[in-house]
Amino acid sequence: MITIIGATGNTGRIAAEKLLASGKKVRVVGRSAAHLEPLVKKGAEAFVGDVTDEAMVTKAFAGAEAAYLLIPPNLSAPDVRAHQAKAADAQVRALEKSGLEFAVFLSSVGADKPDKTGPVVGLRHFEERLNGISRLNALYLRAGYFMENFLAQPGVIRQLGMMAGPLKPDLPLPMIAAQDIGAYAAERLAKRDFQGKRAAELLGQRDLDYREATKITGKAIGKPSLAYSQLPSAMLKMALTSMGMSSNMADLLLEMSDSLNSGYMKPLEARTAANTTPTSFEQFVTEKFVPAYSGKGAAV
Ligand SMILES: NC(=O)c1ccc[n+]([C@@H]2O[C@H](COP(=O)([O-])OP(=O)(O)OC[C@H]3O[C@@H](n4cnc5c(N)ncnc54)[C@H](OP(=O)(O)O)[C@@H]3O)[C@@H](O)[C@H]2O)c1
Repeated sequence: MITIIGATGNTGRIAAEKLLASGKKVRVVGRSAAHLEPLVKKGAEAFVGDVTDEAMVTKAFAGAEAAYLLIPPNLSAPDVRAHQAKAADAQVRALEKSGLEFAVFLSSVGADKPDKTGPVVGLRHFEERLNGISRLNALYLRAGYFMENFLAQPGVIRQLGMMAGPLKPDLPLPMIAAQDIGAYAAERLAKRDFQGKRAAELLGQRDLDYREATKITGKAIGKPSLAYSQLPSAMLKMALTSMGMSSNMADLLLEMSDSLNSGYMKPLEARTAANTTPTSFEQFVTEKFVPAYSGKGAAV
């Protein structure tokens, strides 16, 4: 049995589907039975509960050989680090009580740094907690910048006529499609070919910057002159909080953006075949961004 936390999400859903397709027994965890139903139809066992509930997570790990771990984002949390610590604590205590020997945890590029990386500090703390479980073989997937972050842009394009954000237009980023993370996690959870504790970066298909990403996106939505503008933090904080994000989360995202812009937060590994994944930004735009922009895909 393999337990998948965040199984209805960007990465967990793909991990669960891949494992089910290869004939593995999978227990999928989420807060809603209805959200989990499509995976149940594919053969998964549903487990409904909150990841901050230690007793629930303990039951979700019972009898499992391996688990996919993550800290689900809570964009409206008044204290983001407290939410992250609660989700990490529940999973760590449940792991300690279980006989589970293998875990793949979705971390991030930048988790090597102790500070100034916004929400990624919480992922680093989770890695540190997992390091303390001696029996556990744990793989920390330090993923690059999700292409899915662009799914916030259709609303911006409609309102401002351009793409906008905190990052420098010419900052090369290892942009990765979340589906590639899910597929990679499934493979490693099935093989269980890692020992001790180790981190592995996942850097997407290639590095690209917002200027190039905007050009590709504009062409695909019939706006070839679409521009990207780096906006000041104060303006972005107002925009983010007006969309329901907590003040603390907005501050942490802007802190992380400053660290990306300055080069403090960056991959440690050179690009290799092992940390490169298949989905191109062009493919992401065709399959996910264009449907979202035209109102036929994920909500934005
Ligand atoms: N965005 C980036 O560029 C980036 C880069 C590197 C790492 N990361 C990390 O990636 C992680 C997010 O991964 P993801 O995109 O796969 O996740 P996701 O899609 O945002 O969420 C995963 C699922 O978790 C479930 N969930 C939410 N709150 C929950 C709770 N309290 N208890 C139980 N389940 C809960 C939700 O499903 P239900 O609503 O059905 O419960 C959701 O579908 C974060 O830790 C983030 O820091 C992000």
